[in-house]
Amino acid sequence: MLPPWAVVTEERRAHIERVAELVLGWAVAMHATPAETARWLKAVWLHDALRDARPSSSDELVHGPLAADRAAADGETDRGILDAVRYHSLGYSGWDDVGKMLYLADFLEPGRKFDREIRAGLAARVPAERNAVLKEVAQRRIAWVVKSGYPLLPETVAFWNSLV
Ligand SMILES: [Fe+2]
Ligand SMILES: [Fe+2]
Repeated sequence: MLPPWAVVTEERRAHIERVAELVLGWAVAMHATPAETARWLKAVWLHDALRDARPSSSDELVHGPLAADRAAADGETDRGILDAVRYHSLGYSGWDDVGKMLYLADFLEPGRKFDREIRAGLAARVPAERNAVLKEVAQRRIAWVVKSGYPLLPETVAFWNSLV
C-alpha cells in the first residue's frame, strides 16, 4: 500500500502497482519468506511515492532520496529498504535483495513501452537467474544513460563494478 504521504498521479500509481505485482510474482517463484516478501513490497510502494510531489527537471534524481528520508522520518529503520528506495534510479553497490529486486522490477514492469518482448523475456528469467538478469538490466539502463549524454554518477559506476 502507498504511504499516506504519497503524492502520485493515477499513471504513477498504476506503474507502482505493476511493479508490486511483478515483485510479488518473483517472490512466490523464488520461495521468499513472507517477511522478505514484505520487505520487497514495502520498498516498491515507497520508491516513487514522492515522484509527483515537486515538478522539476531534477526530480528523477531527487525523488528516491526524498522518499527514503520521508520513510526514515516516519520510523522506517530497515537499511535494505531505505537504500533500495534512495538509490533506485542510480543503482548501489551496497544493496541487499530489496534494492536488487526493486531495480529489476522498476525496469522490467510490463507497462513501459520500449523493448516489450525483450523485457518480458528478462522478467521471466529473474527467478532462476536473478544475478545474470540484474547484470543485463544494469547494462541496458547504463547504456541508455551514456547514449543520452548524461553523466554517470559514482553510485552507478560502483554498482556496475560490483556486478562484473
Ligand atoms: Fe523512480
Ligand atoms: Fe518506478
